[in-house]
Amino acid sequence: MAWGWVAGMSKALAHVEIVEVDPKDDAALREFHEVEQSAIVEDRPDQLSRSFDALANSVRHPNPYRSSTLLTALVDGAVVGTAQLDLELQDNQHLAGSEINVAPVFRRRGIGRALHDEVTTRRRAAGRPSIIGEVYVVGDSSAGFEFATALGYRSAHVEAHLVLDLPPSVEALDALAARAEPALASYEIVTWGDRSPDEYAEAYCAMKTQMADDVPTGELDHEPIVVDLDRLRTTEERTARSYHQLIAAARRTSDGTMSGYSQMFLPHGEGHVIQDDTLVMPDHRGHRLGTALKLANLRAVLDEHPERQRVHTWTALGNEAMLRTNADFGFRQAELMHEMQLEDPR
Ligand SMILES: CC(C)(COP(=O)(O)OP(=O)(O)OC[C@H]1O[C@@H](n2cnc3c(N)ncnc32)[C@H](O)[C@@H]1OP(=O)(O)O)[C@@H](O)C(=O)NCCC(=O)NCCS
Repeated sequence: MAWGWVAGMSKALAHVEIVEVDPKDDAALREFHEVEQSAIVEDRPDQLSRSFDALANSVRHPNPYRSSTLLTALVDGAVVGTAQLDLELQDNQHLAGSEINVAPVFRRRGIGRALHDEVTTRRRAAGRPSIIGEVYVVGDSSAGFEFATALGYRSAHVEAHLVLDLPPSVEALDALAARAEPALASYEIVTWGDRSPDEYAEAYCAMKTQMADDVPTGELDHEPIVVDLDRLRTTEERTARSYHQLIAAARRTSDGTMSGYSQMFLPHGEGHVIQDDTLVMPDHRGHRLGTALKLANLRAVLDEHPERQRVHTWTALGNEAMLRTNADFGFRQAELMHEMQLEDPR
């Protein structure tokens, strides 16, 4: 990127211009993505970020559940910072979500604050008095955490970002299989990919709604969503543009009751896997079903997607059961993710 002139620039900024990006403008979207990535990789060896295709697919196709606005900060015509403002359209009408990134060499010049000011103006115009943003802390340093705190945000929820390098040893897989074995006496594991089979779709929606209710979210002021068939099918279609999905679900053999599921995303053309939701329905807990479900998906990755080198997942710090399960798989903690929230005074 042609930023050679920055070396001689004083820390005080002459002029920052904030511009909305037209998602169909390929050059502008690529510049947005390039600057966003340059900020995310700084100081975060285990960072995980979206590909250009994933960004383009998410903003170029209308989403009935969320609107996203992309902003760039320009200094002398060059993009030096980015912001995304998300508004949920069918739930959480009090909330906005935001992510702000500033290219490393342009930091501490007020660019992040200028982007945040614009985000604030827009979310207030949309009637959203509350805003949430994620920041990452590696070791004890985080520009994002300091920035958000300086702007009045507080940490409302903390999750560990965990990583597992692939492949695990044969011994580790055998030990996991032995741990999961009791679950398989009473449950069978069914699996599917990008689209859930019609026969399981209703039960899958019920489990996803339960997941939204049950997953720990600390002090975040965020209402759990209800997943119905329309939402499931819309999300599946949108996701399939950029990710392959693996779902493993548990079915009680005695009566066919769907008892839990685990979900993985494999971004197209990338070398990693995202281990997302894992839920065991309340009446079915205590049989190591969570381990059995995660193991089924992990085996599918090893067998069918051997190019994948790493799994990423996130677990709430207080969620002892899931932290223990992840430790059994060999996950290590890479960084902490704080969800920071700011509410306008009433
Ligand atoms: C966080 C980030 C956006 C800040 O951008 P920036 O342009 O440097 O921010 P500003 O210059 O507007 O800083 C505003 C205030 O935040 C605080 N701040 C920002 N970075 C800081 C740091 N590294 N250490 C301590 N305080 C910091 C300061 O109070 C600063 O005011 P000051 O410079 O007058 O003291 C940038 O560091 C970044 O892109 N980080 C990676 C992505 C990220 O974490 N984004 C944030 C959440 S979505």
